Amino acid sequence: VEINKIRNLSIIAHIDHGKSTLSDRILELTKAVDPREMREQYLDSMDIERERGITIKAQNVRVNWNGHILHLIDTPGHVDFGYEVSRSLAACEGVVLLVDASQGIEAQTLANCYLAIENDLEIVAALNKIDLPAADPDRYAAEIENVLGIPADSILRVSGKTGVGVDALLDAVVERIPPPKGDPNDPLRALIFDSIYDQYRGVVSSIRVMDGTLHANDRLRFLQAGTLQSVEEIGVRTPVQVSVEKLGPGEVGYLITGLKDIGQARSGETITTAEKGATVALDGYLHPKPMVFCGLYPIDGDEFEDLRESLEKLRLNDASFTYEPESSLALGFGFRCGFLGLLHMEIVRERLEREFGLSLIATAPSVEYMVTVAGSVDAVLVDNPSEMPAAQSIIAISEPFLKINVLTPSEYTGTIMELCQSRRGEMVNVNYISPERVEMIYRIPLAEVVMDFFDALKSRTKGYASLDYEADGYAPSDLVKVDILLNSTPVDAFSAIIHKSKSYDYGRKMTTKLRELIPRQLFDVPIQAAVGGRIIARETVKARRKDVLAKCYGGDISRKRKLLEKQKEGKKKMKNIGRVEVPQEAFISALRLD
Ligand code: GTP
Repeated sequence: VEINKIRNLSIIAHIDHGKSTLSDRILELTKAVDPREMREQYLDSMDIERERGITIKAQNVRVNWNGHILHLIDTPGHVDFGYEVSRSLAACEGVVLLVDASQGIEAQTLANCYLAIENDLEIVAALNKIDLPAADPDRYAAEIENVLGIPADSILRVSGKTGVGVDALLDAVVERIPPPKGDPNDPLRALIFDSIYDQYRGVVSSIRVMDGTLHANDRLRFLQAGTLQSVEEIGVRTPVQVSVEKLGPGEVGYLITGLKDIGQARSGETITTAEKGATVALDGYLHPKPMVFCGLYPIDGDEFEDLRESLEKLRLNDASFTYEPESSLALGFGFRCGFLGLLHMEIVRERLEREFGLSLIATAPSVEYMVTVAGSVDAVLVDNPSEMPAAQSIIAISEPFLKINVLTPSEYTGTIMELCQSRRGEMVNVNYISPERVEMIYRIPLAEVVMDFFDALKSRTKGYASLDYEADGYAPSDLVKVDILLNSTPVDAFSAIIHKSKSYDYGRKMTTKLRELIPRQLFDVPIQAAVGGRIIARETVKARRKDVLAKCYGGDISRKRKLLEKQKEGKKKMKNIGRVEVPQEAFISALRLD
């Protein structure tokens, strides 16, 4: 392949702005897919993606256009997968910025554009859905010019639905995006920008050759993982996988080595040849770190082993979530799991329930705190409130912060300020990107965003505001651990690390909730919320008056036994905490309600 004829690009678009539809049109127009085989959203392959209409796993495809080869590199469409987006962009020389002509640019798209600009990528902007009566391309072209400095008259107008303007867009891609650079005779360096696990072939990685040439019989060194692998197959996706003998500089394709562990072929990995290879890895490798944690427990304790197996299988496909066994007084045996973000958490949980048929209960999501204790220099990391060191020994607690970026119609700025302030956010900046729309930047604790911030934002702005975030370091905060005590015994699943100013609210909410759920016992049961031994809220479940035998008037012994027998059975699903019998269902309901 002649390097000057190659164009590598990603389409950057907000969810629902029409990336999949446009990709479908491109496949048709370039005759990559037989129109008879064309099914909608050809490139979205996972079921959950299809149902939720979001793209999680990057896919890439090679098409031909007027004697040129275009590699379309798909980027994941959600804020939790920012690192994967950055790796996909590292494989490109340009991007198509696709914006819904009836909506305008959204926060995440803007953030991805900034990323593209930082990486010196050429941006080809296009307004999509111009067939819609509500489309206002002039207005949104002006907005894009204003915020990104892309001249409004260079912005293309297309409809993925009708196909209008798609050929002009492909022409602009060829004209404006530069070809890749690289010498086929240099030592090999190729970038992995995505990997999936295939049941039959093992790990299949998407790669971009940066320097040198990759041959089908090469022995490879993975520079970051530090392993040696042999090529089983290399090829290109058209989108059908077609094997090839070699991939030269600038080319994008797939690589199979028979590797079984997807964690060994992460996004950002640099591949070279085992002999005479490159020694310096490509820039930008990061080990993605989980940011949000929760406990996952089978509702039926017998499903614990099934849960373990399912987690193992799921991890083959997703190296970015973590899990380790834990046990809880209230919930039994389960796993502490770590995720890149909330959506990631939801996806993993949903897949476990759906693909593996498990019924699960999740504890409230938590973040990772840095705790300094007396007599120790190093801070300890705590992602599970029940593992917090004793209050007396704690000198300081730091929590992770985010820089969030909200794009909103200007009439909602007031309500968004209120929301951010109530979540302990500090304003960093406000920019008017047009008279009607505002970009608001806040620094805010991750823990506050984890608690349904996104839903709150959407409902306060009728769905019009969009959100992007990036990690912004740790800072000390006035945090306390609130314990919930049942008859003076802490119930681990309900412990929480909370800002002091909100601890009373949490204590009151949880004690009230549990009072309603816990059945009466033979004695009064106090339910308390405590901060380091100090009680901040209390409710009582009053003793019940009659016991089971009271109705039996002493006489019939076999009837008595039957009743006792029955009672015993009922107790099987009971947890005993602080001498209190609690049906597990009560804990589950308490975690479910909010
Ligand atoms: P994600 O996969 O969630 O990122 O969405 P997407 O950006 O791929 O959007 P998708 O192509 O699924 O389109 C979203 C919705 O917009 C669908 O209902 C499409 O039918 C519709 N749509 C896409 N392109 C056009 C267009 O050019 N005109 C009109 N009228 N509708 C369009």
